[in-house]
Amino acid sequence: VLSEADKSNVKGIWSKAACHLEDYGAEALERLFIVYPQTKIYFPHFDMTHNSAQIRGHGKKVFLALHDAVNHIDDLSGALSRLSDLHAHNLRVDPVNFKLLSQCILVVFGVHHPGALTPEVHASLDKFLCAVSAVLTSKYR
Ligand code: HEM
Repeated sequence: VLSEADKSNVKGIWSKAACHLEDYGAEALERLFIVYPQTKIYFPHFDMTHNSAQIRGHGKKVFLALHDAVNHIDDLSGALSRLSDLHAHNLRVDPVNFKLLSQCILVVFGVHHPGALTPEVHASLDKFLCAVSAVLTSKYR
């Protein structure tokens, strides 16, 4: 459960990403595909070269969804309901992959905002990404 302190930590560090959603999203995805190449099986139709239009476009979509989730942090299941249906029923992404993407997202924040990613903020952002992942994998059965 996210405490009030977690929510304020997440909002604080996310505000630093708000102007860079496409850049940070693309960077997180590219890390995912390079560090955990098995995740590429879900994206057979993507051009996997550095900074491809598809990686940028999809990175932006993922980070826009997270941005929306931060703005509805008290109602994550409501805010992510459509995406939850999509990931469970249509895409059937194995839940382990959400941990891998969350890890890459944390690293992107560490790279761009090392000072802001204190251990406390790191813990709060990790909890938030776990909560988002739990919603997106909640309809699998
Ligand atoms: C599609 C968000 C995790 C695989 C999408 C879309 C969004 C999204 C916004 C586009 C939906 C649309 O077009 O209407 C997220 C968020 C995640 C997450 C917020 C967790 C933080 C994952 C993971 C995988 C994955 C871990 C697999 C490794 C896909 C695939 C698509 C998709 C294959 C369809 C891509 C396409 O063909 O355009 N996701 N996603 N997602 N997601 Fe996720």
